[in-house]
Parts: sequence; C-alpha cells; structure tokens
Amino acid sequence: MDIFELDRRYVAHTYSRFPLEIVSGKGSLLRGSDGREYIDMGSGIAVNIFGVGDERWKRAVTQQLDSFQHCSNLYYAEPVARLAQMLCEKTGMERVFFANSGAEANECAIKVARKWAAEKKGADYCNIITLKQSFHGRTLATLAATGQEIFHKDYQPLPGGFLYAEVGDREGLETLAREHPCAAILFECVQGEGGVMPIGQAWADAMREIAQKYDLLLLADEVQLGNGRSGRLYGYMEYGLQPDVVTTAKGLGGGLPLGAAILGARVADVLQPGSHGSTFGGNPVCCAGAISILNRIDEELLHGVKERAAYIVRELTGAKGIKNVSGMGLMLGFEPEKPARAFAELALSKGVLVTTAKQKIRLLPALNIPMDLLEKAAQILKDCAAE
Ligand SMILES: Cc1ncc(COP(=O)(O)O)c(C=O)c1O
Repeated sequence: MDIFELDRRYVAHTYSRFPLEIVSGKGSLLRGSDGREYIDMGSGIAVNIFGVGDERWKRAVTQQLDSFQHCSNLYYAEPVARLAQMLCEKTGMERVFFANSGAEANECAIKVARKWAAEKKGADYCNIITLKQSFHGRTLATLAATGQEIFHKDYQPLPGGFLYAEVGDREGLETLAREHPCAAILFECVQGEGGVMPIGQAWADAMREIAQKYDLLLLADEVQLGNGRSGRLYGYMEYGLQPDVVTTAKGLGGGLPLGAAILGARVADVLQPGSHGSTFGGNPVCCAGAISILNRIDEELLHGVKERAAYIVRELTGAKGIKNVSGMGLMLGFEPEKPARAFAELALSKGVLVTTAKQKIRLLPALNIPMDLLEKAAQILKDCAAE
C-alpha cells in the first residue's frame, strides 16, 4: 500500500486531507513525495511561524533534548520557569499554566473563570458567554464554548453553562450578562474558523464595558492569532484590551505541542496544588523551543508582518474572482467566487498550499515568509481566482 492508502486504511477519518504527502521542507517551501515544491501559505495552520526546519528553533529544541526530554511537573525545569517569566513580562500578567494544545489552554481558562466566580460571587455564577461563529477547540467543554451548532450536533449532551452572543449585538450581550449569573466572556479577536472575521474595535469596547459593569472576566483566545501573527504580540493588544486570561498555543510551540493559559492579577491565585494539572503540559523541550520563538517576536518582525499583510491585502482586494478580503496581520481570509475547497485544490495543483474557513480561503503564512515567495504565491492565488 502507498502512504495514501495506508493512511486511509489505518488513520481515523477525521480530516479531509489534500492529496499531498509532505516529505521535507525548509522555511516556507515544502517538498511533496511527488518531487514538487509547494509554497506554504498555511504553516501547518498557524503553527510553524518561522517556517519548517528553522535553525534557531531546532538548536534550542535539540539542546534541551540533549539535557533531558521530560521530568514531569513534580520537579522544576529551567525552560518552563523562563518561558512563563517571558510570557508574563511581555503581557503584564502574573502566572502561566502550561498545557499541550489550544483546546486544553481554553479548558484551563474555563476552569479558572468558574473557580474564580464560585469563590467570589457564588457557585451559580458559572456561565460563560462566548460568541456565535467562534471556535475554541474539540474537547467537550471547548466544543460547548464554540458558538457554532454544526460542531455540537453529534456530541450531545455537551457540558452546560455556555451562552452565545452575536458579535455586534451589544444589547444581546448585556441581556445575557444581566439575566444569567456569569463568570466571563470568552472571545477570539479574529474569528478564524468562523470565517477570518475581526471582531472590530466597537465590539471589543462593548465587551470590555459589559465585563466591567457585571464583574466578568475577559478570556482572550489567542490560539491562532497570537504570537505575532496579528502584527502585535497578541491580537487583543490591537484593541487596547487587558484580558484576565490569555490562552495561546499553535505558534508558541512552533511545531511542538504547547499551550498556555496566561493568568492576570485577578485570577493569579485561583489555581492551587491539585486544582488542575497535566502530565505533558510545559514539556521542557517544547518550552525551550518556545523561548527561542518569543525572543524573536520583536518590533522588526512585527513590522515585517504588517508589511507582508498589507501587500497581500493590496494584491487580492478587487482582484478578478475574489469577492472580499478580511482578517488581521498574517491571518487573512478571502472569499473566492469558486467554492473554497475547489479553490484550495486548484491552488495546490499550482504549487501553493492554503487552508479554508467556511466559504473563505485562509492564509496563515510563516511570519518571516520571504517576499519573493509571497509575491509568487499572490500571483498564483490571483490566477486561480481569475481562472
Ligand atoms: C481560536 C482557536 N482556539 C482553539 C483552537 C484549538 O486548538 P487545538 O487544535 O490546539 O486544540 C483552535 C484551533 O484551530 C483555534 O483556532
């Protein structure tokens, strides 16, 4: 059997894979088993933020591997403490819980919000308001938090205590906060899986004001947008918010599994020994790699992100066969006249890898993708749209 057949026979059928086997890569170029090179405009769904085989990240990871790969959270390990310090100092927050994925980071945020509210306001203040069209993960609680019914339908009963507000409906949000005992509002600044839609400044302000009025925590899900992709270190910074919990994953690990729930002053002491945990969370190898990544998300890199983003928006806006362009930084979406999946398959056949989000094509390139590759990719995408 070839790899395609082997995979289809033995791997659970949870993904609609594209007909491409990746065998190697460097930076933003991936090589398939067909011998062709592909420009990677997806970076493993926003994970490989410095592309594939990045030398500094590899060095950091292999150095830690040479020391020890894992010791459990029963003992201290330098990369864990240093990464937590960096995340706190860069966000003005207090403590970090490390997990292995975005969903687990969000699980932690949900648990922290409920425990905080139970201790401060009473056990019935357990509800968490999330947004319609959001996406927060695939565990049962994060699926329940996800404001899209399509993800709920096969997995009933889901955990309760989630209420859904429509972005832009301030009255609706306030009614939920007033009429239900709530702990928090959980949100993405750009709804990625929901169609690459930024929530906008007015909605960010509305959430902040209502959270303040009803004593709710703000939980920012920065799993996909975070770690420089927005053009700032975290997307909430663009809207001038100061969340109580920031969750992140994907690009933080740069290809190794790592999630983090960064806790602000109001919730810094909610978690105590025994109240939460993880065997692998905060693995020293993943944390050592993450330190090397965070060290490089500086003003120069962020400037480059904004420049690249502006270039893509300029190229695609108004192009033939493209209805609209949306997003923030290097998390961009555009709606082709063709069905999104057919467009993505066409782009692949022409050597560009993209992902989809509903009816949109989603672009999540490496933050340091070379301009010549970006120009080539933009031209191919325009050709695909016009064809
Ligand atoms: C905003 C957001 N939150 C959470 C998740 C879940 O992350 P993971 O797949 O690492 O569990 C994702 C994944 O796409 C995401 O985009």
